[in-house]
Amino acid sequence: MIKVDICVGSHCSLVGALNLLDNVEALQLEYPDQIVVNKVECLDMCDDIKNAPLVKVDDELITAAQTQLVISKVMERIK
Ligand code: FES
Repeated sequence: MIKVDICVGSHCSLVGALNLLDNVEALQLEYPDQIVVNKVECLDMCDDIKNAPLVKVDDELITAAQTQLVISKVMERIK
């Protein structure tokens, strides 16, 4: 199971985390047996707003996460 943690804290939400969440949840609907999506609270890594939004795909931390990058990281792991 691929675990995707998306920070929905205030800084990350300000810079697109909710849109990213919508897109990853849409992908999760296509692969319900392979992807689990979690909304997480502030990961305490947004002191520098340039790091936001923050996402973890399994143990890989992605800063300034763009939807396409996150989706490609997930797709790399899908068997
Ligand atoms: S709000 Fe996302 S890391 Fe702080």
